[in-house]
Amino acid sequence: MDLDAKVCYCFHVTRRKLVNFVRQRQPKVPSQLSECGGAGTGCGWCIPFLKQIYAQGDTDLEVLTPEEYAKRRADYIRAGRGNPPPGATPIPDDGLPKPADERSESAG
Ligand code: FES
Repeated sequence: MDLDAKVCYCFHVTRRKLVNFVRQRQPKVPSQLSECGGAGTGCGWCIPFLKQIYAQGDTDLEVLTPEEYAKRRADYIRAGRGNPPPGATPIPDDGLPKPADERSESAG
C-alpha cells in the first residue's frame, strides 16, 4: 500500500498522515495515533497497523495491496470483531471499498 492509501477506513486516515504524525509529533505511546484524525477509534481493525507505523520499522502495509487490506477488514467486521462508526467506509460484498455516493437511496 502506498502512502496515499487509507489505513483507517473508519475515519479515512491515510498512511501518509500517520507517518507524518509520528515523525512530527513523536507520540510516546501507539494509542496517541488516535489524535491523528481519530485513527483506530472505530472498529479497531487498523490498530495493529498503527502500532507498526508507530514503531517506524517495516510494516505489513508494504506487502499488502489495498484490495487485500480492505478484504481482511471486511472479514474482521463480518466476524463481529469490530463495529464501524457512521461515515466509515462501508464493507462491500466483494471486499473492495466503494465511494460513499454509491449507497443506495431509500424511498421516503
Ligand atoms: S479501520 Fe481504523 S478503526 Fe476501523
